[in-house]
Amino acid sequence: MKVSIIGGGGLVGSCAAFALQCGGIAREIALLDVNQELAVGQALDLQHGSPSVADQTISGGGYEHIPSSDVICITAGLRRKPDESRLDLINRNTDLFVQILNDVKAAGPKPSAIVVVVSNPVDILTYVAAQKLGLPVDQVIGLGTQLDTIRFCSLIAEQMGAPPTQTKALILGEHGESMVPIWSSATIAGLPLDKQPGWNPGLANQLFTRTRGSGAEVIKRKGGAGFAVGIAIQDVIESIALDRRRVLPVSSVQSGCYGVRDVALSVPTVIGRQGVVDRQEIELWPKEMQGMRASGAALRKTLDVVLKRVG
Ligand code: 2OP
Repeated sequence: MKVSIIGGGGLVGSCAAFALQCGGIAREIALLDVNQELAVGQALDLQHGSPSVADQTISGGGYEHIPSSDVICITAGLRRKPDESRLDLINRNTDLFVQILNDVKAAGPKPSAIVVVVSNPVDILTYVAAQKLGLPVDQVIGLGTQLDTIRFCSLIAEQMGAPPTQTKALILGEHGESMVPIWSSATIAGLPLDKQPGWNPGLANQLFTRTRGSGAEVIKRKGGAGFAVGIAIQDVIESIALDRRRVLPVSSVQSGCYGVRDVALSVPTVIGRQGVVDRQEIELWPKEMQGMRASGAALRKTLDVVLKRVG
C-alpha cells in the first residue's frame, strides 16, 4: 500500500507521515510538496527512524508518485488565523486546492485510488474533490469530524479521569462551527456517560465548547495542529489499507443519510479498501437530528458560493 501526502512538507502532512510510519501499515510513504527540498528533508528525517519502526520506503518528491499511489492524502493549504473560521479560509484555499486537483488528475491516479481530503474547509473541499477528480464519489473521503471526535473523547476522558481509549463520544456534521455533539451514544467502558459517577449535564456544554474551539486553541498556542490530525489521518488510512471497515465519523458526499443530501459532512461511515463502503444512520435524539440538518444547510449555503467560483 503506497500513500502519497500532498503537503507532506508541512506540519499536518509530516505529522500524518510520522503517524503512518509508527502505524507500520503503509509499505511506502511519499511526501509531496511545492517546497520539494522541505519534503525531501522530512522524508529523510523519517527514514532515519525506520530501523526501529517498520520496513517502509519513505521518500520526498512530486506528482511522479501519483500514478503508483493507492491513497492520496491532500493536506496542503493555508492555515487559519486564530480568529478566522474555517469557512473564511475558503477563498484563500479554494484556488490552491483546485489547482492541486487538476495536477493530481493530470498525473493519472489509479482508477482505484482513494483520496483523503484534509485541507480546510474540509467538507467543502471534499465535495469539490468528489466533483472534479473524476473518481467514483465513494473513493473521496474527507477527514471530517474524526479529528473533533478524538479531541472530544480526550477532553471527556480527562474530565472524568477515564481511559481515553475507552471513552467513546461522537462529533458529527461539519468539521467547523456547526459540528454536532452526539451525547445520546456517549459511553465510558461501555457504560452510558450520564450514568458515570461524577457526571453532570453542566459538564456537557463546557466540554463540547472546548472541543469545538480546540482547533483555534491549538493554533493560538502553537500555530497549528499536527499530532492529533496525523493520528486521525492514520485512523482513516489504516481502515482503508487493511479493509478494516471501521465505522468512522468522516466526511463524504451525502445522498440522504439523516435527511442530508448533495453536501459533504460527517456521518458514521464504514471505511474499507474501496473507500466509503456504507453509512450507518444510528438513532439520534431529535436535537441531534436538528443539528445535523442545520450543519448540512450551513455547508450547502457556502458550497453554493464556492461552486459559483470554481464552476
Ligand atoms: C483543526 O481543527 C486543522 O482543522 C484542523 O485543527
